[in-house]
Amino acid sequence: MRITGLGRAVPEQVLTNTDLERMVETTDEWIVERTGIRERHIAVPGETTSTLGTAAARAALDSAGVSAEAIDLIVVGTSTPDAVFPATASRIQDALGARRAGAFDVNAACAGFLAAISTGMQFVAGGGAERVLVVGAETMSRIIDWTDRNTCVLFGDGAGAVVLERGTADEPGALESFVLRSDGSLASLLYCGGPNEPAIAGSPAGPYIVMDGRNVFRQAVTAMTQAAAEALARAGLGVSDIALCVPHQANLRIVDAVARNLGLRGDRVFTNLERYGNTSSASIPIALSEANDLGRLQPGDHLLMLAFGGGLAWGAMVVEWAGVRSARPRDASVHVPLEQAVPA
Ligand code: UT7
Repeated sequence: MRITGLGRAVPEQVLTNTDLERMVETTDEWIVERTGIRERHIAVPGETTSTLGTAAARAALDSAGVSAEAIDLIVVGTSTPDAVFPATASRIQDALGARRAGAFDVNAACAGFLAAISTGMQFVAGGGAERVLVVGAETMSRIIDWTDRNTCVLFGDGAGAVVLERGTADEPGALESFVLRSDGSLASLLYCGGPNEPAIAGSPAGPYIVMDGRNVFRQAVTAMTQAAAEALARAGLGVSDIALCVPHQANLRIVDAVARNLGLRGDRVFTNLERYGNTSSASIPIALSEANDLGRLQPGDHLLMLAFGGGLAWGAMVVEWAGVRSARPRDASVHVPLEQAVPA
């Protein structure tokens, strides 16, 4: 199993902390100090999870040198699908012209990419597919209450994608271990209602994200630390063997705490949440694609990915890096005036 392609796409529109200061009672200083986030990309009308996912997927196919027709399966991790159905994966399949591919979505909230990539890897490992496209794509801005300062400063929109292919034993690239966990008894800490869960009386129309930030923070640090330790043990590796850790990009303080718990050196941990905020399922593949473009991953390196989100759901994965060509990203950071930036 090898990761052979990587791509990402984010909306051009940028919403800064200064913009948010004019929307809710907050400050740039508070947001940077408590989260590390400075700006995030926000979809404009017409931009959706599937359009962002398609752009990221095209970049990933380009970098792998694989045509859409060669893809057997498309798995999309998202909790902000374009519609309840069809699956966002089917829309991406159609937009790409991936005529031979099956397509479905998986939802594990912010752990959606780890759920999707481990699903894709099982298809490749089990012989069910030769080439799988895995996408993490979100438009979190569409499920945010823009009057709630507890959540609206945290999230952003975007998509990342990877191509998985069968490899041979003599070339680098392998799935070394993965751990997926969930504790549904803690669902009330972080959720977004659906068609069978009418909005709570008195709460704004939605559905919107509701979060107990402080408790989610604590759970995230403990869960990702444990999952990382378990994944490393299963892979037969120590922390010092990890060339790069790409964690879910929710909060710099969470990332730092997990790294400290594990004894991971700061220069081995990749973060870019400063410019994207928390893009949920898209955060790991966007970060992976940037890390690769920056030359932070070399063939044979051991990569550790960590995720945590609503469910609660979390996980860790260790992969031996195969080596991936850089693809041109579609993320010209253009600042758009506030009145155009946020849905009314
Ligand atoms: O993807 C996985 C899901 N999400 C996460 O992983 C996020 C997890 N949680 C967090 O990142 C952090 O808990 C937050 C960034 C959400 C909050 O940081 P915190 O250090 O845990 O702050 P807090 O919740 O303890 O709140 C401190 C204070 C509160 O005021 P009081 O009650 O102490 O008077 C909040 O009302 O900060 C207040 N506050 C704000 N102040 C300015 C909350 N949001 C804001 C804001 N601007 N945007």
